[in-house]
Amino acid sequence: MRLFSLKKKDVKSGGTQPPLRHIAFIMDGNGRWANSRGLPREMGHKAGAEAFRRVVEYCFNRNIQLVTVYAFSTENWKRPQSEVDGIMKLLMDYMQEWLDNHDGNKFNVRFLGDTTRFSPEIQRLMKEVTQDAHDYPHTLNVAINYGGRDDIVHAVNTLISEGKTEVTEEDISSRLYTMGQPDPDLIVRTGGEWRLSNFLTWQSTYSELYFTKTLWPDMIYRDVDEALEFFATRQRRFGAVK
Ligand code: FPP
Repeated sequence: MRLFSLKKKDVKSGGTQPPLRHIAFIMDGNGRWANSRGLPREMGHKAGAEAFRRVVEYCFNRNIQLVTVYAFSTENWKRPQSEVDGIMKLLMDYMQEWLDNHDGNKFNVRFLGDTTRFSPEIQRLMKEVTQDAHDYPHTLNVAINYGGRDDIVHAVNTLISEGKTEVTEEDISSRLYTMGQPDPDLIVRTGGEWRLSNFLTWQSTYSELYFTKTLWPDMIYRDVDEALEFFATRQRRFGAVK
């Protein structure tokens, strides 16, 4: 597996800190985008799936090695069944498209969250997609049936099942769904809300946070650039002094 290495074109934060390796998105605002057009919410998610494709591709083109998207939370099951079904269909379509474009994909996919809750068909596709891992420099994390607290509980239960009675931060980090990956340098939330909503709770400790009113389906390259420009102004100290 290739390590997350420095490249000349990498997006830098202010000062001499390391470049941006991991960007994460809370894709919020699909419902409002649809409502404002008199469309059903499912159409907002469909437009959101298009935005997801272009934003992920753009981030990889900007040489960001790891992109995480919050596609479905542990709480999203409470939504109307038709909406849940619509999101699952979009996910299946995306996975099938990814598999069909076998040679064109130059990135790996990892699913963050408890995938056992999904239908056998979805689990089969997830397995196929993740088994097709290569030595690519880019990875897409799709957080699905994901909750930050659930991630920590799952990691702790794994440690208990291993017989541990005392744990370190490293023990927990290395049992999270993001095991082996760097924490997010930047978390972007669209849709005008200023909260993390149970996303990457452990991993976001030192993440820079960027909030924009842009609704997710409206996200274009310029919005990503604005987030990256914001990141470039940040002085990251990780609790130390300069
Ligand atoms: C939040 O907006 C969005 C979601 C819960 C679903 C996100 C799903 C996608 C972008 C499409 C599918 C993704 C993949 C990976 C194929 P919201 O519905 O809460 O918006 P609102 O706050 O305006 O109601």
